[in-house]
Amino acid sequence: MSEPVLSVRGLRIWYGTDRGAVRAVDGVNLDLRPGETVGLVGESGCGKSTLGRGVLGLLPEGSSAVGEVNYKGRNLLALKPRELRKLRGPDLGMIFQEPMTRLNPLMKVSQHFEETLKTHEPSLGKKAARARALEALRGMGIPPTRYGQYPHEFSGGMRQRIMIALALVLRPAVIVADEPTTALDVLVEAQIIRILADLRANFDTALLLITHNLGIVAEACDRVAVMYAGRIVEKGPAYDVTSKPAHPYSRELLRSTISLSTTSLHSIPGAPPNLVDPPPACRFHPRCPDAMRVCAKDWPPSVDLGAGRRSECWQSARDRIPAGLEAPLEREALAVAEEA
Ligand SMILES: Nc1ncnc2c1ncn2[C@@H]1O[C@H](COP(=O)(O)OP(=O)(O)OP(=O)(O)O)[C@@H](O)[C@H]1O
Ligand code: SF4
Ligand SMILES: [Mg+2]
Repeated sequence: MSEPVLSVRGLRIWYGTDRGAVRAVDGVNLDLRPGETVGLVGESGCGKSTLGRGVLGLLPEGSSAVGEVNYKGRNLLALKPRELRKLRGPDLGMIFQEPMTRLNPLMKVSQHFEETLKTHEPSLGKKAARARALEALRGMGIPPTRYGQYPHEFSGGMRQRIMIALALVLRPAVIVADEPTTALDVLVEAQIIRILADLRANFDTALLLITHNLGIVAEACDRVAVMYAGRIVEKGPAYDVTSKPAHPYSRELLRSTISLSTTSLHSIPGAPPNLVDPPPACRFHPRCPDAMRVCAKDWPPSVDLGAGRRSECWQSARDRIPAGLEAPLEREALAVAEEA
């Protein structure tokens, strides 16, 4: 396996609020290798976007972070804003969910590309810049004839593809795409996923793909990280995790995905916890159908399952459970969670 291009170690990110610190990312380790796509999944509010931004050193206002995000021998969290800005674009790219808020309505598509390329690759001549821009747009299915148009002249799906082309024109080594296809129809979604796959094949780009769609993960990702309440609870090869999840949360999340073969939709009882004051020990224990007494008492170990898989669950470390704590967790605790 190749060396990671980006490696996250012990990352914690929290937001200061009147109610206390929201621990949105709470001790995450993650590697991204050149040319691989890693899916990041989990319910709403589990910290995916916060982690996605943190991976690029792009912390939102009002947040603090500790830990390391290592990229080319440097910890992004320790860089000055000016140094970080230089990396943004040519090294680190981000694709956001709402394209309209990121494109300037007063600027033509051509101007967006010219400005981006001038800022990050000033040595590129005007003609070469135009050629690069048109190539990136063509890759996204936007014909050259539309280069001189304004953002409002495009459909939502096209604007999103323009945004992606803008991120890709600089050929960054790492891209974080935060639900890039959620607002799009299924056909455009499939097209974008295909384009992103070509991209990593052609330029060795490492992609962190945040998505609610587990179908996309199975289809387009090499590995997947399942996030719950600020932690990555399971990670491993996408096929293995989506076909045979080890962690109860991954399993429940998969079951709650709409499947064409089942008519009923299962949803996980309860909701992700308040991250100001999350449950002690395993954060999933109030909702977990497999919870044991130990799960409410001690933090579960992160267990290496081999073949690049890890699961943070007592079920994978039964030999380490102290005597008497293997019994199922009393059901009252679960009933309370279901009512909440
Ligand atoms: N600026 C902020 N100030 C305070 N709390 C925040 C802020 N941004 C996010 N949070 C909180 O941090 C937690 C994680 O949020 P985040 O947006 O990272 O989750 P997410 O997994 O991306 O959710 P979604 O799937 O809905 O996009 C949530 O509890 C959220 O309410
Ligand atoms: S540690 Fe216990 S509560 Fe947590 S996911 Fe595993 S079995 Fe469920
Ligand atoms: Mg999000």
